Amino acid sequence: FNTIDDLDFDGKVVLTRVDVNVPVENGQVTDATRIEKIVPTVKDIQAKGGIPVLLAHFDRPKGQRVESMSLKVVLPELEKALGQPVKFSEEAIGGPAKRAVADLQPGDVLLLENTRFYPGEETNDSTFAASIAALGGAYVNDAFSAAHRAHASTEGVARLLPAAAGRLMEAELTALDAALGTPQRPVVAVVGGAKVSTKLDLLVNLITKVDHLVIGGGMANTFLVAQGIEVGKSLAERDMADTAREILAKAESSGCTIHLPTDVVVAREFKAGAESETVPADACPADAMILDAGPESVAKIREVFEQSRTLIWNGPLGAFEIVPFDAATNAAAQEAARLTREGKLVSVAGGGDTVAALNKAGVSGDFTFISTAGGAFLEWMEGKELPGVAALQKR
Ligand code: 3PG
Repeated sequence: FNTIDDLDFDGKVVLTRVDVNVPVENGQVTDATRIEKIVPTVKDIQAKGGIPVLLAHFDRPKGQRVESMSLKVVLPELEKALGQPVKFSEEAIGGPAKRAVADLQPGDVLLLENTRFYPGEETNDSTFAASIAALGGAYVNDAFSAAHRAHASTEGVARLLPAAAGRLMEAELTALDAALGTPQRPVVAVVGGAKVSTKLDLLVNLITKVDHLVIGGGMANTFLVAQGIEVGKSLAERDMADTAREILAKAESSGCTIHLPTDVVVAREFKAGAESETVPADACPADAMILDAGPESVAKIREVFEQSRTLIWNGPLGAFEIVPFDAATNAAAQEAARLTREGKLVSVAGGGDTVAALNKAGVSGDFTFISTAGGAFLEWMEGKELPGVAALQKR
């Protein structure tokens, strides 16, 4: 695909799809990471003489104008990140948007209102896409984290204008290719989270691609159940036991070693400071629940990391939100960070919970790459084609 380096932007309005779908509480942005990450793209477009007009969605207004979901809420953080004023258009298409674009001077940046206020966005309606495309002379997509959506602003418009990937999109795709496309082997994947059912496609794809698969979190309990182990009151999907057994068998035949916890931290209550103990994985008391992997399991994970050249991580190993059930996640994260700092490991992580856990462990800065994506990262790891990326492919 084209990058910003390949297109001519001189004097052109460049429709720039960004993902500024950030967490907001009481009208304040609580994590501006996604906003900060689009700065290089905006600056590079300006440096090439283009005028960036930012296209974005916010939340899920479902094709209606919902004032509490206006993109106005991100303006202060956007201006801070870019170090300049940002103009705003209350409409993303039509007369008002055209007038806002016509008023732009070189050096300006304009943000258009939430594309999801229009029903044509999510249906990828060609008339809606054409009304957006009519505003500019080129299109840049920097929203990897929204690229799993085949929407007008991520897919339709890309087909109507000269199109290129932005810097963040480029960086995400490069990192993911290094992790799963053409990685240095051995490759270890860490997959955690509550449920096997939501990560089935992911597990099935990974066992054909990676050398080691570490399974943690609630989903590990389902695998223990599949092996005939009693897990007491632990979160587990008993109806997924057959599926889990199939995954274990397929992994074995495709040369992927699956690592399940061999010891676990259990408690009777799920709350901060709850009394807990470490027991072998097959000895969870009937009235207790597994909330984290134990130290022996962590030692094994460390060993696997040390033997590996590439790590891809999605999902925490335990109930990391509550101390002390964050111990395994923290210890594994710290080991990955150390090996990465020492140049021994390429480490890539993504997903909302995973990034929160790595931030909490204080190691995100040491990872080779932390994706800004949640759903898109997962779909990419599942081996699916992302419509927003496919639409950038050179025609
Ligand atoms: C995200 O936050 O993962 C992206 O912005 C996509 O949002 P969506 O899940 O509402 O499409």
